Amino acid sequence: MPEQKETGMGKFSNLEKSLKIGELTSRNRFCVQPMECCDAEEDGNVSARALKRYARYCDGGAGAVVIESVTLQYASRSTRRQLLLNVHDPVNRRGWEDFFRTLKILHPGTVLIMQLNHAGEYSSDEWSERVCVKPKEGFGGRQIDAEYVDGVIRDYIEAADFLYRIGCDGVDLKFCHGYLGSQILRPYNDRKWKYGGSWENRSRFAFDMCAEIRRRIPDHRFLVGAKISVVEGIWQGQGNRGNETDVTESVALCRGLEERGADFIIESLGAARERWDLMAPNHGCPEHVWLHVAAAQAIRNALKPETAVVCGGLSVLGRDYGKITDFCIGDGMFDMAAIGRQVLADPDFPAKLLSGRAAEINYCRCCDACGELLIRQKPTWCIYSRL
Ligand SMILES: Cc1cc2nc3c(=O)[nH]c(=O)nc-3n(C[C@H](O)[C@H](O)[C@H](O)COP(=O)(O)O)c2cc1C
Ligand code: SF4
Repeated sequence: MPEQKETGMGKFSNLEKSLKIGELTSRNRFCVQPMECCDAEEDGNVSARALKRYARYCDGGAGAVVIESVTLQYASRSTRRQLLLNVHDPVNRRGWEDFFRTLKILHPGTVLIMQLNHAGEYSSDEWSERVCVKPKEGFGGRQIDAEYVDGVIRDYIEAADFLYRIGCDGVDLKFCHGYLGSQILRPYNDRKWKYGGSWENRSRFAFDMCAEIRRRIPDHRFLVGAKISVVEGIWQGQGNRGNETDVTESVALCRGLEERGADFIIESLGAARERWDLMAPNHGCPEHVWLHVAAAQAIRNALKPETAVVCGGLSVLGRDYGKITDFCIGDGMFDMAAIGRQVLADPDFPAKLLSGRAAEINYCRCCDACGELLIRQKPTWCIYSRL
């Protein structure tokens, strides 16, 4: 387990412990999940609404907050109003500089990480360009080549470099939920090319990107990590051989990232457009939450103690969230508990839980109306939130 420090003996004595991640410290074991909310400005620049949302999440007391999936390639984004980071555009750059400056003034104690993503076949020709590594039924798109992927890796490296210089605390490289990172890693990507076919080729995108970011930024006060679909639950998906589950490659992915300097892994499952039920368990499939716990534990067992493992997919635990995640952390199954939909339902969830105000929590009903808003590309929020 990473180095721990007691901060008090509340009801949730593990959740309230601090955690050393790289050379930074999260003041407790809560990590806000990245969640796209379709509220960028029309040109992708960061908006006042997005800043307000993140200030609100930080107010809620989580030790770490991961900023939603941000595109670096506006030409192939996931939604019309996805946030863009374009280090070559002075206006866009200034927006992000102001964003981090403001959050760091208001919340100097919160670890702020940005998730970087490319939508790949999850983009759409309706609002940008759908691209793919190998056409797949129901998706398709222009097939990309090695030169294109080399360029994507360069974009990620430049973005990390920029974020390091403006006071962001780290990057979460998105290798989950069926976006480009997943599409390249899947056994389905069996085309014989630099980034496909053998495991060595399919893992090259993730490994080269992570290694080069760390080579350029050896400072572990800037965290590098990744969110992984340990199992996508689709034919020839990540963690699948045919339709069977086989996590060998997912474990190798986490180990390989750790060897290349990653400080944390966020566990996830499923694919946003194909297996939402695995990604975000609801009351129709509450048992999927235990698959998340098992996947996080498998990663925890495979990695060095100092690499932080964050477990996702937990909002369906509702009133039992605190009790169960506190037990799991104490038992060494994972190091941090992620909060996704639950933080949309109540941004003050961590603070209320840790200060004995659980009765005041607006629990997420896992109705997935927020997911529906995202699919319809409307500004996304919790329809039951009293805030
Ligand atoms: C509205 C919405 C937007 C999401 N956007 C992202 C995203 O940008 N990046 C990501 O990795 N996962 C995204 N997810 C998935 C969540 O981060 C999380 O993995 C999932 O909801 C399961 O956690 P939970 O049970 O705590 O909600 C999104 C989920 C929702 C509901
Ligand atoms: S809209 Fe439904 S699923 Fe989304 S946060 Fe609110 S209660 Fe939870």
